[in-house]
Amino acid sequence: MKATAIAPSNIAFIKYWGKTDEALRLPANGSISMNLSELQTTTTVKFNKDLDEDTVFIDGQKTEGLKKNRVTQHLDRIRKMAKINLGAKIVSKNNFPMGGGLSSSASAFAALTLAGATAAGLDLTEKELSILARQASGSACRSVPDGFVEWLGGKTNEDSYAVSLYLPDYWEICDVVVIVNTSEKSVTTTEAQKSALSSPFFRERLGKINDKISLLKKYLGEKDFPKFGELVETEALEMHAIIMTSKPSYLYWLPETLRLMILTRQWRKDGLAVYFTLNTGHDLHLLCLQKEVEKVVRLLKATGEVKNVIINRPSVGVRLVEGHLL
Ligand code: PMV
Repeated sequence: MKATAIAPSNIAFIKYWGKTDEALRLPANGSISMNLSELQTTTTVKFNKDLDEDTVFIDGQKTEGLKKNRVTQHLDRIRKMAKINLGAKIVSKNNFPMGGGLSSSASAFAALTLAGATAAGLDLTEKELSILARQASGSACRSVPDGFVEWLGGKTNEDSYAVSLYLPDYWEICDVVVIVNTSEKSVTTTEAQKSALSSPFFRERLGKINDKISLLKKYLGEKDFPKFGELVETEALEMHAIIMTSKPSYLYWLPETLRLMILTRQWRKDGLAVYFTLNTGHDLHLLCLQKEVEKVVRLLKATGEVKNVIINRPSVGVRLVEGHLL
């Protein structure tokens, strides 16, 4: 009863921000993302009749407290579906830093879902895996299908899941992840999302979000990179406007984050098609076409603001692998 899965993180072009059901993690709106080739979590789950409790190791450290509880709660969902009552050993490793806004929860819970379900003897469809992953971390449902992905918002547990819009080789977009600081963010996404509805701008956003989703899909369909990039950039700022104006209010940016946003716009004025987006955190994602990526990285490194860059291409979604971690 052992299985290992590898899952990509993803970057949202249209953001998921705010829920209609906290326990089921049903989103206030649909969202669109791309899976990332170089930000991955690998997870092995082994159920064992001699264990009456789960043990969790993340990046070589035994994990307790809230992080462990979230893993155990998710395995409880799987145990219930599989009608088993066994403890598990879970070993997970990320190839990137957790907690700086690179969506480690998306890759972590997508990998845990597939590894856990398979180890428990379940054979789930992509849709069922996406529904299950969503309950652990909303964005994780988008790391299940391949490539460019839409999470169909949905109103119930059964109709809230993600589907692939295009396979990874559809468009040569790069997402250059720019790590400006390796510290963990002070407020988790789950916590900050709870106050989304208190922002005076939240209703305004929801009123227009379906038109925005249609527009993004149009630009994606036409491969119109400048229009696509403009929309993605303002969407990230809209999410942060809500984060900053909700009660309580949160500020995720560091001075480096803002300096790089301003520089990105300057590079654009100088003729380079590059756009920023970001999640809840201080690290930025710069989007450009493959042919411009070397120039973008060169410019970034010359700023002196950057700790590390990770160049991502569109990726397949979660899959099983043979290389077990235990
Ligand atoms: O899945 P969560 O609860 O980590 O939420 C992710 C939310 C954002 O990353 C900020 C936006 C998104 O759509 O990925």
